[in-house]
Amino acid sequence: MRTVYYVTALLVVLTISIGGFRGRRSTQPPIEVFPDMNRQAKYKPQAGSKFFADGRADRPLAAGVVPRGRTIAPDPDFLRADNFLYRGQTTSGEFARDFPPELALDEKFMQHGQERYTIYCAPCHGALGDGQGITKSYGMVTTASYHDDRIRKMPEGEIFNTITNGKNTMSPYADKLSPEDRWAVIAYVRALERARQGAVSDVPADHKADLGL
Ligand code: HEC
Repeated sequence: MRTVYYVTALLVVLTISIGGFRGRRSTQPPIEVFPDMNRQAKYKPQAGSKFFADGRADRPLAAGVVPRGRTIAPDPDFLRADNFLYRGQTTSGEFARDFPPELALDEKFMQHGQERYTIYCAPCHGALGDGQGITKSYGMVTTASYHDDRIRKMPEGEIFNTITNGKNTMSPYADKLSPEDRWAVIAYVRALERARQGAVSDVPADHKADLGL
């Protein structure tokens, strides 16, 4: 019988201590059962620190670090400052013609361009670049043909800009193609255009026979 009194007394104390003070205001911080990560041992930017001899929380860069985007040695390329390679523009901000001089326009580059083109452009622009890709049969009828005079004469930098930022109904491809990829695709676009303009006189003499000429 006595245990019943004890248990009842304990329950009364528990009920009052848990429930009895609800809604009371307190200047004390609340009891934190799970502190999660509310308070962390960290430094805020530009803060001071007693730990480091120079008193700064921000640490200087380690010797020899390379900023993101710096692919070529000398300084003008600092943080993608190379307007030609990264934006297809001249230093004065116009669309540049031709390809950035640091890229080697060789067969490997061209093949890379063809591969990327086939994945990312051909569905709309077609394998021949005439705008007759598969999406045409699904209603995308405004796709440009690279064989229009306007695009044949367009500076390479402007095509770079179209790939980077998109144009009208064409979405940007900057997240899928690195700047180097984009230049490779442009090289391949130029090859498609050149091939379309090809004449018999372009065929080397020792291959004319292959054409039955
Ligand atoms: C989803 C379809 C689609 C894909 C994929 C696509 N394009 Fe286009 N592209 C278009 C359409 C549509 C236009 C016409 C936009 C307009 O209305 O001016 C266009 C226009 C262009 C133009 C002409 C821009 C101008 O100044 O008139 C170029 C150059 C071009 N695309 C290059 C590319 C390249 C290179 C790729 C691959 C990286 C690509 N496109 C991928 C749909 C596409």
